[in-house]
Amino acid sequence: MHPYHIPVLLNESIKAMNLKPGGIAVDCTLGGGSHSQAILEREPGVKLYSFDQDPDAVQHCRFLSEQYGDRFKIINDNFANLRTRLSLERVKKIDSILFDLGVSSHQIDTDVRGFSYMRDGRLDMRMNQSGELTAEIVVNDYSKEELVRIFRELGEERESSRIAAAICKYRQEQRLATTGELAEIIDRATMSKLKIKARTRIFQALRIFVNQELETLRTALKDAVNILNPEGRIVVITYNSLEDRITKKYFLYEQLSCVCPVSFPRCLCSKQQRLIINPDLTPAADDKDNNRARSARLRSATRI
Ligand SMILES: C[S@@+](CC[C@H](N)C(=O)[O-])C[C@H]1O[C@@H](n2cnc3c(N)ncnc32)[C@H](O)[C@@H]1O
Repeated sequence: MHPYHIPVLLNESIKAMNLKPGGIAVDCTLGGGSHSQAILEREPGVKLYSFDQDPDAVQHCRFLSEQYGDRFKIINDNFANLRTRLSLERVKKIDSILFDLGVSSHQIDTDVRGFSYMRDGRLDMRMNQSGELTAEIVVNDYSKEELVRIFRELGEERESSRIAAAICKYRQEQRLATTGELAEIIDRATMSKLKIKARTRIFQALRIFVNQELETLRTALKDAVNILNPEGRIVVITYNSLEDRITKKYFLYEQLSCVCPVSFPRCLCSKQQRLIINPDLTPAADDKDNNRARSARLRSATRI
């Protein structure tokens, strides 16, 4: 049987969280629960709140609730609602927070979820299946211009225009319903030999768009820093250049103590430095056989 998810940068991320006895930790991306379990094991004095918007992940991780009792609470929600959901738990401040972004192996490997071009399934791609927008709606009902923009901005695909045109032509005859159909359209429309890369980029773009991943990340990073205690740690594992850039830029911004133009004779912005970026940690040898680990990058910072 396949594991639900093979964790990436497990030891490095837990180390970066700098867990403390009596501290409050948050895992924003519960998935198969390996990071959450490692947090609970590593520091028995910690209380952990773990978020996932996918009811399937929440169901899978019930075993952790049985094992760790009231040290562990699962919150089935989007991490964009971090602050509201934690304040409902009467948690105002936290000490460590982890984001292990993207989708789990289980989500990718489940045909009907429609995340993978390697599996034929309905074009769905919702992490939260009660969301209204699916990839099927996007590819069938959005204009060619909108598709080009999504593929360019969220997939960084150079042949976006040809691929969007091919999708529009196909849907004049019939609705585009499956991942298999989409993969074939991409292959036929792509000039370059790197058809797999084009598939990867288009599927990534649709997934990011359907789940509003970048907007959600921006909101949650800000909220996380707002509720971190001094010395608290924020740890983010990213898997693509878009989410990595957002994280890197935000950490850099929070590390600045002034954002006035250089032409100003003195500081007028009253900005305060809130983070110190921590040095990168090298991935451990255990990750070398894990495909997802290849694109993974761990970023962490300490609240001051
Ligand atoms: C890479 S997996 C996490 C794997 C996990 N660290 C483990 O050890 O098994 C990402 C998980 O985060 C969830 N997720 C992604 N974005 C989310 C968001 N905005 N809010 C809540 N959950 C999210 C996905 O549903 C998925 O289950």
